[in-house]
Amino acid sequence: MFDWLREAGHGAWADQLLQACHQVIDVNGHGHLEHWRRCWQALPEICGRLAAADDGRVAVNGPIAAEVRDQLRSDLMTFRPWRKGPFDCFGIHIDTEWRSDWKWNRMRNHVELRDRTVLDVGCGNGYFGWHMLAAGASRVVGLDPFLLFVMQHEVIRKLSRSDVPHDVLPLGDDCLPKRLHAFDVTVSMGVLYHRTSPIEHLQSLSGSLKRDGQLVLETLVIDAKGEQLLMPEGRYAKMRNVWFIPSVALLTKWLRRTGFHEVKVVNMTATTTAEQRSTEWMAFESLADFLDPEDSSKTIEGYPAPIRAMLTARRKQI
Ligand SMILES: C[S@@+](CC[C@H](N)C(=O)[O-])C[C@H]1O[C@@H](n2cnc3c(N)ncnc32)[C@H](O)[C@@H]1O
Repeated sequence: MFDWLREAGHGAWADQLLQACHQVIDVNGHGHLEHWRRCWQALPEICGRLAAADDGRVAVNGPIAAEVRDQLRSDLMTFRPWRKGPFDCFGIHIDTEWRSDWKWNRMRNHVELRDRTVLDVGCGNGYFGWHMLAAGASRVVGLDPFLLFVMQHEVIRKLSRSDVPHDVLPLGDDCLPKRLHAFDVTVSMGVLYHRTSPIEHLQSLSGSLKRDGQLVLETLVIDAKGEQLLMPEGRYAKMRNVWFIPSVALLTKWLRRTGFHEVKVVNMTATTTAEQRSTEWMAFESLADFLDPEDSSKTIEGYPAPIRAMLTARRKQI
């Protein structure tokens, strides 16, 4: 990936990324990371074929002995919680907290991926990246500062021994220089409301794109007319780090102000407990516990329950 960046004329950024990755890994070197690394090294030496299946699973499959599969299942369990998926590893169905395949189905027909380079900011374990590659993307670079998700990506890569152009770096949007202009498509899903400065987040997405590059943005919105904004007093659906939830009209204005045009709302969906739920692969609380038990149109704090909008836009020619 770093060679590709250098060849594409982004050598300075490649060097910065390498340094930033080393820093993250050094700082975290004595915590969970060491444990995850050991578990990763101990994974069975098997090599499967990776495919994005029509039923939405990202599958790694191939011949496997029953006892190796049992061992693999318990190895995969050590990388819980698995939030984004589903995956299928040698017949083991990783039933993740989210039916992310539903989100993929909402976006797949609205983004041009064939031979495109993609940046996925806040990509989680890279689930969408596998689908985007299968849909023809020439390269996917994911960013996610949460190391467990980066390790989950490495697990899938190791099991498939895949030398595919799909990387997940343990970094956040702050690693994006102002005027990078390196990618054909930039995706940011489920990140904007976590940022204390949504405008700076959008500016960094805009700066990551080549001229006329395409943005896919998915975020929480409020179902309100005109330009309105919800800033929760404290937690929102038990999440501590939710800052700004705009109406679609306000979000569209934010996009226009940060260098985008041709803004289209391609989907608006209320999140249900069928899409986000606890499973044995994510045994903590999930959406059902975050909603008012008497009135599921409200969060437990009394705010409107989660609605997510997906928008596409193009970076203006400047
Ligand atoms: C709600 S999840 C969304 C994951 C995936 N994009 C999806 O739509 O299913 C938000 C992700 O953003 C990551 N994240 C948090 N802060 C971030 C930042 N500053 N830059 C990039 N990613 C960030 C989190 O670690 C988490 O994986």
